[in-house]
Amino acid sequence: MRLLTLLALGLSAIQFAFAQSCTLTALGAGKDDSPQLLTAMQTCSTVVVPTTTTLNISTRLNMTGLTNKHLNLQGTMRFNPNIAYWTANGFPFTFQTQITFWIFGGTNLILDGGGTLDGAGQAWYDAFAKNSTLLRPITLTLFQATNVLVQNIKFLNSPEWFNLVNEGKNVTYNNVTMNAASTSSNGAANTDGWDIYRSDQVQITNSVINNGDDCVSFKVYSTNIFVSNLNCTGSHGISVGSLGQFAGMFDIVENVTATNIHMSNAQNGARIKCWAGSGVGSGIVKNITFSGFIESKVDNPVIIGECYMTSASDCAAFPSNTLIQDVFFTNISGTSTGSTVASLGCSPGSRCSDINVNNLALSPPSGTAKYTCQNVKLAGSSAALFGTCATT
Ligand SMILES: *[C@@H]1O[C@H](CO)[C@@H](O)[C@H](O)[C@H]1NC(C)=O
Ligand SMILES: *[C@@H]1O[C@H](CO)[C@@H](O)[C@H](O)[C@H]1NC(C)=O
Ligand SMILES: *[C@@H]1O[C@H](CO)[C@@H](O)[C@H](O)[C@H]1NC(C)=O
Ligand SMILES: *[C@@H]1O[C@H](CO)[C@@H](O)[C@H](O)[C@H]1NC(C)=O
Ligand SMILES: *[C@@H]1O[C@H](CO)[C@@H](O)[C@H](O)[C@H]1NC(C)=O
Ligand SMILES: *[C@@H]1O[C@H](CO)[C@@H](O)[C@H](O)[C@H]1NC(C)=O
Ligand SMILES: *[C@@H]1O[C@H](CO)[C@@H](O)[C@H](O)[C@H]1NC(C)=O
Ligand SMILES: *[C@@H]1O[C@H](CO)[C@@H](O)[C@H](O)[C@H]1NC(C)=O
Ligand SMILES: *[C@@H]1O[C@H](CO)[C@@H](O)[C@H](O)[C@H]1NC(C)=O
Repeated sequence: MRLLTLLALGLSAIQFAFAQSCTLTALGAGKDDSPQLLTAMQTCSTVVVPTTTTLNISTRLNMTGLTNKHLNLQGTMRFNPNIAYWTANGFPFTFQTQITFWIFGGTNLILDGGGTLDGAGQAWYDAFAKNSTLLRPITLTLFQATNVLVQNIKFLNSPEWFNLVNEGKNVTYNNVTMNAASTSSNGAANTDGWDIYRSDQVQITNSVINNGDDCVSFKVYSTNIFVSNLNCTGSHGISVGSLGQFAGMFDIVENVTATNIHMSNAQNGARIKCWAGSGVGSGIVKNITFSGFIESKVDNPVIIGECYMTSASDCAAFPSNTLIQDVFFTNISGTSTGSTVASLGCSPGSRCSDINVNNLALSPPSGTAKYTCQNVKLAGSSAALFGTCATT
């Protein structure tokens, strides 16, 4: 009754405050839809963007500290590629010097609906080719978000990483697709699928990713992560790290499983990367399983590298301070692009322990497959393929 009275009075703002479900349509050509989307997310428990609607997102989206919200995106959110605006106003992250269009956080959040997040990346790919220090926005950052489901969403042409999970807990992504494709000669650079950072209990399932950098990357303090049934094409692989980069910092990645992964035309398949050299940090990588990988034309199908971004001489003089323990590479098959199909390179000084290789069946384009290893004692049914590991 009260609601009806207010409606009769035409108090649209108050009517909004009572609404459980709100439907947004675009304001029209030349208009910015960000303010109305922010207001709706504050005031309604469900926000529906219909299939025929494309919201023009021209100002940054601070959607943090929300509780019990459902963004039902059936249509599109397109991030207006105003480069000068975003480089000055994107939310900054000091970690790896990133910016983002959108921070989404709080408790009990759902983003679904079958719609599209269009990063309008082409302008960014072309601008980055002219300015290699250009800051480019991450499309979606889950920021201090707990109990979150992102499901049935299509991501298009992110200017930078598609997804960052920053200080999240119990976050699930299911049935998402990502496509980063440049129509010019300038590549879709640094378009990681997901970067997980200081986050616990993250699940990523049933998704298809076509991009130009890591498919999934587990960065500092990623714990209890489960990734399954992904098809990654053109990527840099499923990567733990890079870790141990910053002096004085101790990095942890623990309890990660990546299983049932199709990896095609990629730089890496299953990968762990750590820094060495003078003045770097330290850390531990523990209990990591890569299983059920089917790879096609991958440069490094199975790889541990403890000299990431470090010259061979620095790496010998200053071995990595990151320990790698309890790692399982299991049931990995398919083809490489070069003769080396697996390379497990640890720093001297017993940095790696309990490294297991089972049911590896990888083929180079021609000749004999090379399985190489350094400074590590391997266990498992495929250990014999590697022979005696070199010590340095
Ligand atoms: C999006 O909004 C900005 C700022 O109002 C405007 O300059 C731009 O033309 C709009 N884009 C579209 C496609 O309407
Ligand atoms: C986002 O909005 C919240 C609530 O208004 C505020 O406390 C926070 O500082 C904002 N975050 C950023 C990065 O601007
Ligand atoms: C390149 O991008 C950076 C960071 O976004 C910016 O500060 C700088 O002014 C840009 N350089 C040019 C030549 O546009
Ligand atoms: C984790 O989040 C999901 C929503 O994605 C929720 O259904 C579930 O109850 C949460 N689990 C816990 C332990 O809170
Ligand atoms: C996956 O999401 C798409 C929309 O992006 C939807 O059309 C499709 O039905 C979903 N698949 C499943 C199994 O829910
Ligand atoms: C990935 O590709 C394989 C082989 O083409 C297919 O069987 C599987 O269903 C695909 N997975 C997803 C999540 O699309
Ligand atoms: C290893 O991590 C997985 C999750 O990826 C977890 O299920 C398992 O219990 C962990 N094992 C140990 C010994 O910690
Ligand atoms: C890893 O998993 C084991 C077994 O479930 C658990 O005891 C341990 O606390 C987990 N480690 C982290 C850092 O969460
Ligand atoms: C090996 O991995 C493939 C692809 O993920 C899967 O279909 C198969 O069941 C796995 N085999 C075993 C023995 O786990």
